Amino acid sequence: GVTPKIAPSMLSSDFANLASEAHRMLNYGADWLHMDIMDGHFVSNLTMGAPVIESLRKHTKAYLDCHLMVTNPLDYVEPFGKAGASGFTFHIETSKDNWKELIENIKSLGMRPGVAIKPGTSVEAVYPLVEAETPVEMVLVMTVEPGFGGQKFMPETMDKVRILRKKYPALDIEVDGGLGPSTIDMAALAGANCIVAGSSVFGAPEPAQVISLLRNSVEK
Ligand code: DX5
Ligand code: ZN
Repeated sequence: GVTPKIAPSMLSSDFANLASEAHRMLNYGADWLHMDIMDGHFVSNLTMGAPVIESLRKHTKAYLDCHLMVTNPLDYVEPFGKAGASGFTFHIETSKDNWKELIENIKSLGMRPGVAIKPGTSVEAVYPLVEAETPVEMVLVMTVEPGFGGQKFMPETMDKVRILRKKYPALDIEVDGGLGPSTIDMAALAGANCIVAGSSVFGAPEPAQVISLLRNSVEK
């Protein structure tokens, strides 16, 4: 469905206090917690793996929206399923040959499958995954080059969101990178409903106000 999901990116949180940071965001009105998994290979940054998800899961029942910026996502499906991940979003750039197997495995471990596309990847690449017998349930359109928080939103990526929304009225479409009060209207108007926001939420004096502003933009 196209209800708004506001997903603070825990990449911008204090990793040494991850559970309290998660509780803080949920109290501020977050729907999901976005977990950026980077392997130092698909992207140059290195963040967290399944053990961190397993530890956080012991402190919250929240939806853990895991975004896997890794070269071999299939290797991560079972560990993430067992750790308690809720959503498992892999990149099509790493998965052209095995996305069917990936989706099946993700679902069999009780997670919700999603596919992500980098700014340079064309939107047609995900059509077969959305239309498959066992489809992905979300498309993540990257609005920055994956790898780091705090980058500038790329408005040219909105064409992909518009095309997806027109073609798939009920699909969850997530945007990730550079989203905040000054860019949310572009994403919401294009048709995105799942909004990842790291630095704009964690850097705000009143994160709850930013979260409600993001939600209101998607709803209007
Ligand atoms: C970037 C990550 C994003 C990042 C967003 O590779 O996928 O989730 O944390 O951070 P901001 O909102 O600061 O651009
Ligand atoms: Zn992300």
